[in-house]
Amino acid sequence: MSEFQTVARVGEIPEGEGRSFAVNGTMVGVFLSGGEYRAINDFCPHMGAALADGYVEDDAVSCPWHAWRFSLKDGTWLDNSGSSIRTACYEVRVEGDEIQVSVPTAADSAQS
Ligand code: FES
Repeated sequence: MSEFQTVARVGEIPEGEGRSFAVNGTMVGVFLSGGEYRAINDFCPHMGAALADGYVEDDAVSCPWHAWRFSLKDGTWLDNSGSSIRTACYEVRVEGDEIQVSVPTAADSAQS
């Protein structure tokens, strides 16, 4: 069962930016957008760029390599609404001054 893990403290991720963290063997991009923390899989489905290095606007991130845009709310690829391409999205919470994310482990995925 996945549990929340602390990745950073409040203030360490500036508004409109993202940072990459390894959680349960997965690289996760954690963003602050419009005052809300968001977490998606950091690996761009196109060619693997780190999405946390992308440009954040309107709860979306543009990949730093070829500018594909992904929703920070649900990981949807925003450039083609009919596509099934998406990146995973994870729960985020703030406990005290700790930013925490919940990322399923491989064992969790096998059970579902
Ligand atoms: S690697 Fe992300 S759009 Fe190409």
